Amino acid sequence: MKTSILVAISFVIAIGTAIAQPVSTNNQFLPGQKLLDNQGNFVNAHGGAVIFQDGKYYWFGEKRGTSASEGVNVYSSTDLCNWKFEALALAPVSTDTNSEIEEGCVMERPKIIYNQATKQYVLWFHLELKGQGYAAARVAVAVSNQITGPYQFVRSFRPNGNMSRDMTIFQDDDGLAYLIYSSRENYDLRITQLTDDYLSVTTKDKMLFSNHREAPAVFKHNNLYYLITSGCTGWQPNKASLHATKNIWGDWVESTLNPMRGLEWDKTFGGQSTYVLPVQGKKDQFIFIADKWNSRNLKDSRYIWLPIQLHTEIPTVQWMENWNMNWFQQPVSKH
Ligand code: DGJ
Repeated sequence: MKTSILVAISFVIAIGTAIAQPVSTNNQFLPGQKLLDNQGNFVNAHGGAVIFQDGKYYWFGEKRGTSASEGVNVYSSTDLCNWKFEALALAPVSTDTNSEIEEGCVMERPKIIYNQATKQYVLWFHLELKGQGYAAARVAVAVSNQITGPYQFVRSFRPNGNMSRDMTIFQDDDGLAYLIYSSRENYDLRITQLTDDYLSVTTKDKMLFSNHREAPAVFKHNNLYYLITSGCTGWQPNKASLHATKNIWGDWVESTLNPMRGLEWDKTFGGQSTYVLPVQGKKDQFIFIADKWNSRNLKDSRYIWLPIQLHTEIPTVQWMENWNMNWFQQPVSKH
């Protein structure tokens, strides 16, 4: 009797200690490892994107259940390693069966952009309507005056009549912004220019190439635009590719070299591209962001963040088990 009481007491103390322990601080990136937020929960922000505003980074991504799509989460950070849960920025609607974002819909690859003129945050994402699998193939827009939301759904549509699944948004230095999207059952990758308010697309729309690619992630360095994409193998990883162009409306040339280097380079380290983050205020610092999907439990899909190397023949991403921001300061010989 006494022993069992003692066991019970020590169990309660152990649980209490575990609960009381502060969430540890991350001082490095651990690609593919569990990433916990300030509350000790998994960071649940897949297929996402990061924006810098007023001294903080904000990470928007898909909130996932085991398989369900549960909206768009937003987290904030000052150092890119430690993330504070901010809000469910956009929630599916449970009360209106006519809503295009009715619970049961699929919201993927949210990308965030700030419009300087309207002072609005605009959230673009891939939307699949409830009960239709991936047949609807639409892009959707939501808007908010506050970065962490709540975002109001504006509309969903097929850009210029084209199917639109995986997508990204790219904002150029001149303020013009573009939607880059997988179309025609993912066989074509297309680009269209956004309207000035970023709430819709213009009729300026062009096919970039027809290579059956998805998961587009764009960045610009030394006046060249770069585009990383994946092949189309569902949640399974595959080989990435890199295209480049001087003119966003011109020809995008595919590199004969693969941008991924090191362990599992031909499977993008087990991940799939989603975004390239230009480090705030640093001319030559870019971070490649990929999702390491877990199709059996999507909310436990992991993140791969790795620096982009720019001294190589083409921009490359070298696998590292761990790294921190000092990497960017190191001499190239140590990379
Ligand atoms: C690959 C896409 O890149 C993901 O965003 C998701 O749509 C899965 N396919 C679904 O199989």
